[in-house]
Amino acid sequence: MEPLYEGKAKRLWATDDPQVLRMEFKNDATAFNGEKKAQFEDKGRLNNAISTRIYAFLEKQGIPTHFVRTVDETNVEVRKVDILMVEVIVRNLAAGSFSKRTGMEEGTEFSAPVVEFCIKSDELGDPLVNDDYIRELKLATPEDLVFLRESALKVNGILGGFFADCGLKLVDFKLEFGRLASDPSKIVLADEISPDGCRLWDLKTGEKMDKDRFRRDLGGVMEAYQEVLDRVTSALGD
Ligand code: C5P
Repeated sequence: MEPLYEGKAKRLWATDDPQVLRMEFKNDATAFNGEKKAQFEDKGRLNNAISTRIYAFLEKQGIPTHFVRTVDETNVEVRKVDILMVEVIVRNLAAGSFSKRTGMEEGTEFSAPVVEFCIKSDELGDPLVNDDYIRELKLATPEDLVFLRESALKVNGILGGFFADCGLKLVDFKLEFGRLASDPSKIVLADEISPDGCRLWDLKTGEKMDKDRFRRDLGGVMEAYQEVLDRVTSALGD
């Protein structure tokens, strides 16, 4: 059987239900738009375990997501969506491309969260765009953008508090949304939330507990992901 879609870190498979897909978390890690690649045994399992718990938690807090159920250690079932070609990044502290673009020192706290929209395109390298670009490219309507921005800020508020309970600072993260195949008027949170797409710093030591360990060759990548999972699990009382 062939997957319906294969991305850098996940595969999507059909199920018996046309409205439901199986999402498989792979062990592949990529950075710098696929230029740097590696395989980490257990990465799929760790990201699935972390993301599943976070999505279940967000659902409980009233955020609609694509999550349906866990299948096994590396697979979940998700509602079929049409992914919006706009990625939403929320930042609470300067880091990564924000620091590179602006020169602001990494770790500088913002007075309020910064929301960015990027085009989801490996070919273009996910360029940062504004609302006018998105309107002209017809990637989303202005109303959709209001909804995406509000949803992303709501998720930031919920996750900022949750990760603080885990002893982690939520520095920044990327979200992807999709229109439900069964009802395209409804946009839900899709993709995953894991240390692959979030920056998480230990509140006490400032240690990086996310994919920057891989990007910057800091070592201990899976040890950090396992620590994030342990803290998420214990904060949820699982
Ligand atoms: O690299 P940059 O600073 O723009 O990344 C901001 C946040 O978005 C980081 O947490 C990063 O892991 C995430 N991100 C992502 N996928 C991308 C771009 C950024 O998960 N294509």
